[in-house]
Amino acid sequence: MTARSIIRVSILAGAIAAASALVSAWALASPASDPIGRALGWLGQGSDHVAAWYASDPVADMPDWRAMRLDVAGGDAARGRDLMRDHGCGACHRIPGVPGAHGTVGPSLAGLAERAYIAGILTNAPGELTRWLIDPPYFSQDTAMPDLGVTEAEAMDMTAYLYTLGGDE
Ligand code: HEC
Repeated sequence: MTARSIIRVSILAGAIAAASALVSAWALASPASDPIGRALGWLGQGSDHVAAWYASDPVADMPDWRAMRLDVAGGDAARGRDLMRDHGCGACHRIPGVPGAHGTVGPSLAGLAERAYIAGILTNAPGELTRWLIDPPYFSQDTAMPDLGVTEAEAMDMTAYLYTLGGDE
C-alpha cells in the first residue's frame, strides 16, 4: 500500500464512521428530541422569516439613492435661490424659481439635477458643483462664467437649490 492509498482509505473510513454515527444518533434519539425533524424545523422557520421579510416589501424602505446622490449636507435651498438672485446669476442663466433669471449667455439651469456633467467637464455631484460655483475659471480657463466671489457656504446653498431643479422644469 502506498502512503497515498492509506490516506484515501482512512478518509473513507472516517466518512463512513461519521455517517453511521449520525444515523445511529437519529435512530436512538427519542421522537421528542428528533434531531433531523428539528433541523428541518429550523430550516422551515428560517424560510418563514425570509418569506415574511420578502412579503414586507423591503425595497419600499430602501433609501432613494438617486435623490441622495444630490443631497447637499448643510445646504439651504431657499437661501441658495435668494443668493443666486443677489449674485446676478440670472443675467446669464435661465433659473426656474429665481425672479428675473432669463439670461441666455450660459446654459439654462433647468433640469440641472439630471445632467451627467457640469460645464461638460466636472461630474455632476454636490462637491463638484459647489467647487465650480466658487471658481469656474479654475476648472475651465476659457469659460465665459466668471469668478463671482461666491463663498463656500453660499455655493453649498446654491447647489442645494440647483439640485431641486429636475427634468420637468
Ligand atoms: C457672465 C455670465 C455668467 C454668470 C454671471 C454666471 N454664469 Fe454660470 N455659466 C456661464 C456660462 C457661459 C456657462 C457655461 C460654462 C462652460 O461650459 O464653460 C456657465 C455654466 C454654469 C453652470 C454649469 C451648467 C451646466 O449645464 O453644465 C452652472 C451650474 C452655473 N453656471 C451656475 C451659475 C450660478 C449659480 C451663477 C451665479 C453665482 C452663475 N452661473 C453666474 C455664464 C455665467
